[in-house]
Amino acid sequence: MQYFAVMYTPQDEKRLYEQAKALLNVDAADVATTIELLRETINYADWKYYVQSEPVLADVEYDGLYKKLKHLEEQYPEQVTADSPTQRVAMGLSERFPAVSHLVPMLSLDNTYNAEDLTDWDRKCRELAETDEITYCVEPKYDGASVSLVYDDGKLVRGATRGDGVMGEDITINVKQIKAIPLSAQLLKYGVNQIEIRGEIVIHKKVFETYNKQRIAEGLAPLANPRNAASGTLRILDPSEVRKRGLNAILYSISDYTLEPGTPRPEELKTHYGSLQWLYSMGFPAPAREMKVFTHIDEVIKFCAEFEARRDDLPFEVDGLVIKVNDYALQDRMGMTSHHPRWAVAYKFKARQATSKLRRVEFQVGRVGAITPVAKIDPVPIGGVTVSSISLFNEDVIREKDVRIGDTVLVERAGDVIPYIVKPLTELRTGEEEPILFPTNCPACDSLLEKVQDEAAWRCININCPVQVAERIIHFASKDAMDIRSLGNANVQKFHDLGLLPDIPGIYHIDWDRVKGMEGFGEKSVTNLKQAIEQSKQQPLFRVIFGLGIRHVGETTAKTLASAVAHITDFYSWDIEKLSTLDDIGPKVATSVVDFFAREENKRMISMLEAAGVNLINDHRGQKPADGALAGKTFLFTGTLSHFKRSDAETMVEAKGGSILGGVSTKLNYLVVGDDAGSKLEKAKKLGTVNILTEQEFLQLIGDHQ
Ligand code: IVH
Repeated sequence: MQYFAVMYTPQDEKRLYEQAKALLNVDAADVATTIELLRETINYADWKYYVQSEPVLADVEYDGLYKKLKHLEEQYPEQVTADSPTQRVAMGLSERFPAVSHLVPMLSLDNTYNAEDLTDWDRKCRELAETDEITYCVEPKYDGASVSLVYDDGKLVRGATRGDGVMGEDITINVKQIKAIPLSAQLLKYGVNQIEIRGEIVIHKKVFETYNKQRIAEGLAPLANPRNAASGTLRILDPSEVRKRGLNAILYSISDYTLEPGTPRPEELKTHYGSLQWLYSMGFPAPAREMKVFTHIDEVIKFCAEFEARRDDLPFEVDGLVIKVNDYALQDRMGMTSHHPRWAVAYKFKARQATSKLRRVEFQVGRVGAITPVAKIDPVPIGGVTVSSISLFNEDVIREKDVRIGDTVLVERAGDVIPYIVKPLTELRTGEEEPILFPTNCPACDSLLEKVQDEAAWRCININCPVQVAERIIHFASKDAMDIRSLGNANVQKFHDLGLLPDIPGIYHIDWDRVKGMEGFGEKSVTNLKQAIEQSKQQPLFRVIFGLGIRHVGETTAKTLASAVAHITDFYSWDIEKLSTLDDIGPKVATSVVDFFAREENKRMISMLEAAGVNLINDHRGQKPADGALAGKTFLFTGTLSHFKRSDAETMVEAKGGSILGGVSTKLNYLVVGDDAGSKLEKAKKLGTVNILTEQEFLQLIGDHQ
């Protein structure tokens, strides 16, 4: 018999044995300290992420800490406390939400709409307060669902909806899923043993849009606006679903509190401004940075006008401002009606709703064959944009809303969010309205439409349907895919109709002699187009994968996929199981990817792209190192750049872990400006939170982070 030397020396064995013992029998005091440290770190990371919008940990790091805490708590159940971050996760479904009465009734707000209303309100305030010395606090009016939170001895014990203002529903379990809301706070330090805090549960506009896109892709009707999404989510019976929706919270008032006997009232709790700063200092998501204080109503009016002009810059939907008398003693003197306090008023922004006549419905064929009904209405301005086409999404939406041709419809546009038909005004019907009939055949190729099980969309399943083919080419050439500028909708459609561009690989075999003779195609535009096509061959693999238009594969999934292989054809041998091991790839996406790469026509397309010289190799571009020097930092480029190409600069940022944003918002860290920068620069200056860099400064920054 042959013996092999074992890999452990006796010393190693001794050390490992002791280590194992130590881990098994962690001294209770050590466990408590470790658990406390983990909780502290996780709470800090949540606060940075949800309240400050400045993540400090990569997802994997955060998950690692969370798992460690969970594991320790499982081993030492006696160490679990109600305010541990692990206790946000609830198992199972809520049966229903019990009714609870509010400590103090939740009132509403009186509204004002213009300078005159505000001047009147100010006059009344001075009469009621019996003084001309009033300080006003102005803060955004967040458009979400109101919530009341009760903390006893520093611990969150109850979260409730507004309900009828007197009684609400106990939604504590769902409120705990919102990471911006602290489960505990150092209230006892100030002698506060009970406090009721009011606020608004909101949903980030971007989160809302992503969620709606997903709903549409799944054939579900999208939600009308972030407000509906927030209030609907709060009442979902499955807390884990609530958690997934990424709600946020903003707390704007203290409605009641009690102090330990003998404790003096904290100085901060004498004014509204002081109270919100105080809440913020303890980690509560109060709008401390968004509040402004004024001593004259004219300044308030000026601020309202300025703020309204940049309402879209905030990450959350805002439908106005709230003006509050700052001094609590004055508030008490002024009192309230049964409906609203007399010391506060809402200044409402111009409505983003309008009514218009629905004239007809067009049926559009999408890239994957889904038929989308699009309502054509008489053009109407809503929030500065003229709206004439509105998607009706699918047949179910038409049926649910019972919209008819000839109806007067109420249209809403919430912020950047796409316009939406709220409802038909049935009271205005004349009887002449006609039902919207869904076609049975594809409007482009006349194939019989089919309905996939569990989906609301009707589909044209003819893979050669000319509109689908053109849409696929448009998508492949689009900015986020191969970024072939000048090969936009109109040109693709034109070339396709003329037979010059039969399919995606056809982009690389266009008969330029024929193009040159065409109207609108001079020497220069042909050269530019040729050059853009040539350059696209060097795009990183994730862009190709995204461009192929695989169902359920967006840009992020494309990046995940690209980073998992050496060459795109590696996917030919991947199965659902293997794909499901990748981050964020579930069975639905995995099935779709497997189906795509199994199809002969797709394999043919891929080999034609390769033959044309398109890069199909993963050279690690586009992958975000979580620990890059610019991790968590966001950039945007604007104006004419003369020192580098925008796409190269974006790649440089991403290579260092940073990300590129689509617009200027409070989320943006750096705006790099070239010549003739316009509105984005203005916006960034107004916001005051964005670092504005010249091209040289950007290069310097990148250089410093080598
Ligand atoms: S103070 C006693 N401040 O607007 C009155 N309300 O239209 C307390 N809202 O029910 C309201 N942002 O849900 C206040 N900064 C803010 C607000 C705000 C949004 C909501 C709140 C209220 C509704 C009234």
